[in-house]
Amino acid sequence: MARKLIVGNWKMNGSLAMNAELLNGIRTGLAGIDCDLAICVPFPYLAQSHEALEGTGIALGAQDVSAHAVGAYTGQVSTRMLLDFDCKYVIVGHSERREYCNESDELVANKVQRALAGGLTPIVCVGESLREKEDGKTAEVVGRQIGAVLSVLEEREVCDIVVAYEPVWAIGTGKTPTPTMVEDVHALLREWMVGKNPDAGECVRILYGGSMKPSNAGDFLQRPDIDGGLIGGASLKAEDFLAIARQAS
Ligand code: G3H
Repeated sequence: MARKLIVGNWKMNGSLAMNAELLNGIRTGLAGIDCDLAICVPFPYLAQSHEALEGTGIALGAQDVSAHAVGAYTGQVSTRMLLDFDCKYVIVGHSERREYCNESDELVANKVQRALAGGLTPIVCVGESLREKEDGKTAEVVGRQIGAVLSVLEEREVCDIVVAYEPVWAIGTGKTPTPTMVEDVHALLREWMVGKNPDAGECVRILYGGSMKPSNAGDFLQRPDIDGGLIGGASLKAEDFLAIARQAS
């Protein structure tokens, strides 16, 4: 398996001034870090982040992308536009978009296809709500979400995605599943992906996301089946983001 991958998702946070400080803190604190790093910033800050990250080896990403290539889609952003800023990654199907923007499994799958066709690596988010967890439906929900994506991919494309397992009830709440619970879901995800491409067990990185912070990151990142993290709140402080990355190194 490749090096671990730590991705910061700034969500709808930041300003030019705040970002300048955060980006500078990240850029100057990379000593001792030996994992892959990426940050996914709001669209208006792609240019600023692109410039600030140049030469650092930290990849840039966006938090969403249109399912369409180009045209009359007011407010949407294309893969082509993201490539203008050297984006490598795009988060697709984050639970906040599924919930607040009514993104369906089908739309998420279309966006994944579009991202791949456009040369971006989609970070495909899956995860169950608290209600679904309590009803014992985690495998069913996560299976449905990843299944929708796998159904539109060619076998060879499976190796070109990153998956992030993010239980919705753990996002921004301070609550986390145990690393063993995460590993159980990761094992299922791998099994389903291997069903589509026998190499997927090795080639696809599966991240964990949900209230990961410096004090608990090691518990997750030391597990061989957890290939990295998708970090929300803790990615907004350079020292916390870097402290997590150090535990993935
Ligand atoms: O994209 C990141 C996840 O939603 C996790 O967010 O670390 O603030 O819980 P969080």
